[in-house]
Amino acid sequence: MQANGSIAASMGDYSVNLGSFSATALDRARHLITGLPLASFAGKSALAREVDVLVHRLAQHGLVEYRLYSRDEQDLVIIEPQVPEYWPQRAKLGKNDTVVLSRFAYLRRRGNELVLESPRAGALFRIGDPVIAATLATLSRPQKISRLGREAASFIDLLGLLLDCQILLKLSAKDGAGLRLNEGDGNLVLWDFHDLVFHTRSTEGRHANPVGGTFTHAGAVQALPAVRPAWPGRKIDLRKVSASEPTSAFAKLLRERHSVRDFDDEHPVTLAELAQFLDTSARVLSEWNSDTNFGPQITYSTRPYPSAGSAYELELYLAVSNCEGLSRGLYHYDAGSHALVAIGASAQQLKAFSAAAQFAMDAPGPPQVLITIAARFGRVSWKYSSIAYSLILKNVGAMIQTFYLTATDMGLGGCAIGTTNIDLFAKTTELEFHVESPVGQFALGRGRRLPAES
Ligand SMILES: Cc1cc2nc3c(=O)[nH]c(=O)nc-3n(C[C@H](O)[C@H](O)[C@H](O)COP(=O)(O)O)c2cc1C
Repeated sequence: MQANGSIAASMGDYSVNLGSFSATALDRARHLITGLPLASFAGKSALAREVDVLVHRLAQHGLVEYRLYSRDEQDLVIIEPQVPEYWPQRAKLGKNDTVVLSRFAYLRRRGNELVLESPRAGALFRIGDPVIAATLATLSRPQKISRLGREAASFIDLLGLLLDCQILLKLSAKDGAGLRLNEGDGNLVLWDFHDLVFHTRSTEGRHANPVGGTFTHAGAVQALPAVRPAWPGRKIDLRKVSASEPTSAFAKLLRERHSVRDFDDEHPVTLAELAQFLDTSARVLSEWNSDTNFGPQITYSTRPYPSAGSAYELELYLAVSNCEGLSRGLYHYDAGSHALVAIGASAQQLKAFSAAAQFAMDAPGPPQVLITIAARFGRVSWKYSSIAYSLILKNVGAMIQTFYLTATDMGLGGCAIGTTNIDLFAKTTELEFHVESPVGQFALGRGRRLPAES
């Protein structure tokens, strides 16, 4: 209870304000410690509505989990939401329906628990019962509900919840055994299992695990040295044969490159500079066709940075906060026609992009221009199996260094950013996270000069 009468949920030194509630509602909410049946606040009474608001607010902050079954005080299935808007819902299932596990679903040990999860799901399921785990294993093949044993029939609620989370799929009679194709649109067919897990678990927005510099294992394992200890073999000293100072303009540029996180908002980057930056680093220089021995020609492009298989799957989305000559807003860089195209984004969404970047850089203000690098995954995975996502991340590295060097050369400043919220991007652009989604970010602007430099 706060001094002003509102209540807050506190975890360590982090706290979330939840609003004000009547004493009766708070009294009822106390049962959340041991468990409050969803049905107990599903009604229309004022009390039920208040408790419902409170539980939804807690859920939006990932502070609620849902116990599905328990026996002898032991939890058999617990649902852990992974996205803020998850709310348990059973998809409809009849006895004539045929279901199968998604090829993206996996059961694994986490600590002392067994968890069932999927990069497509809004929640993961903690399985505390070997019978339920065994039943799930039988769903690796399509099964008709009416043919499942008595045990499985008693878990029908669980199956409905798993269907809602896309951990289970419903197959229609015509789907046959073409499971990969039945799972979803063509864009999903192209994804390998490990790549979709990697994408959703190494970004923000679609899981509830800690992200970033948390030093989780600092107490258990020592940090590695900054420079690798030398091998014991014969040493050839290169200092004797190479110049100690940069010998070309390019070598000098490499030495000058550094990350800039503090921007001069009184003298922001201009539209002309932004155009020059994009022209130098990212523009399509030419297009060409190549024959294939299995069908039509494929079109490729040439750009200033290298790209695996010449795929050029990376797209640039600019969240502009402060650029002279360009209104605030979100833009897509059309690299083919060297143009910026405005995309409808709310002020709140724009702010969320900039605020996350500011936080990631521990910067005093938002970046003047935040470039989100998104990948059209299918452009790479259509050709490459197993290595598609890894190639994309390598391409991001090549692009980021190109951005750093271009910015340095132009007297601008920038900084790579290691995490991106793929859920925020998906909601803002209405592009599904498995179709086109962020894989990197770069903050750009005119760096604030230190007093000694000005
Ligand atoms: C892939 C990548 C991710 C990075 N992520 C962040 C980040 O999230 N926040 C940040 O402040 N700096 C980030 N940086 C910048 C590094 O901290 C920086 O490059 C490093 O400290 C070396 O400093 P320098 O770039 O000034 O030479 C990132 C750099 C790279 C290459």
